[in-house]
Amino acid sequence: MHSKIIVALDGHSSCGKSTMAKWLSKQVGYIYVDTGAMYRAVTLFALRNKFITPEGIDEAGLKAALKDVTISFKLDEETKLPLTCLNGEVVEHEIRLMEVSNNVSPIAALPFVREVLTAQQQQMGKEKGIVMDGRDIGTAVFPNAELKIFVTASAEVRAQRRYDELIGKGEKDVNFEEILKNVQERDYIDSHREVNPLRQAEDALVLDNSNMTKDEQNQWLLDKFNERIEKLRN
Ligand code: DC
Repeated sequence: MHSKIIVALDGHSSCGKSTMAKWLSKQVGYIYVDTGAMYRAVTLFALRNKFITPEGIDEAGLKAALKDVTISFKLDEETKLPLTCLNGEVVEHEIRLMEVSNNVSPIAALPFVREVLTAQQQQMGKEKGIVMDGRDIGTAVFPNAELKIFVTASAEVRAQRRYDELIGKGEKDVNFEEILKNVQERDYIDSHREVNPLRQAEDALVLDNSNMTKDEQNQWLLDKFNERIEKLRN
């Protein structure tokens, strides 16, 4: 048994980070945390409570209300994967819908939202043995993570993946061009916000998976994990 480490996976949206992260966590018996789901849950909360309106975001209202918001994960008995909960309610499906995707980046850019969620994420990783995916895990949440991966793929490839995923879930009203625009807009906002923007940590290993199959990228990640554990042993 090796001593447990923290695996930080960062990168652009829809580049297959969470698929890889989930797979690795199962293989090595680590906890998996999808931090994007936490930002999405806050966005769903803000939409439901009308803190997001066509005029903009009611920041003061959201900030005050956020104190009573709990985001947690509940293990799905069948898949053994975590389901995102907002104040105890499972919202895994709702947080993946387009309305949330279209509103999440400005919410994730708010400093008070990042502060609250970053503190929760650090708490979750205290015991290590965790695979966490997001945008700022290797740079801000766990700058000392033992293994940092930065995943990327072309915007077109990523939009196609999200399109296939939505069609696969039975959504009818999906348009490739609209998804591509959403992917590009989110890239821009995520990389240009003031607080903890998406950027590659200096010590991260980069993976461009545009032309890789799921099996290939999973194997790549497992190899990197094993190499890191091996190095730490010596
Ligand atoms: O990974 P995702 O597409 O579910 O992420 C949703 C949004 O949350 C995305 O616009 C970036 C933001 N996010 C972030 O700012 N920091 C994180 N650690 C994770 C996600």
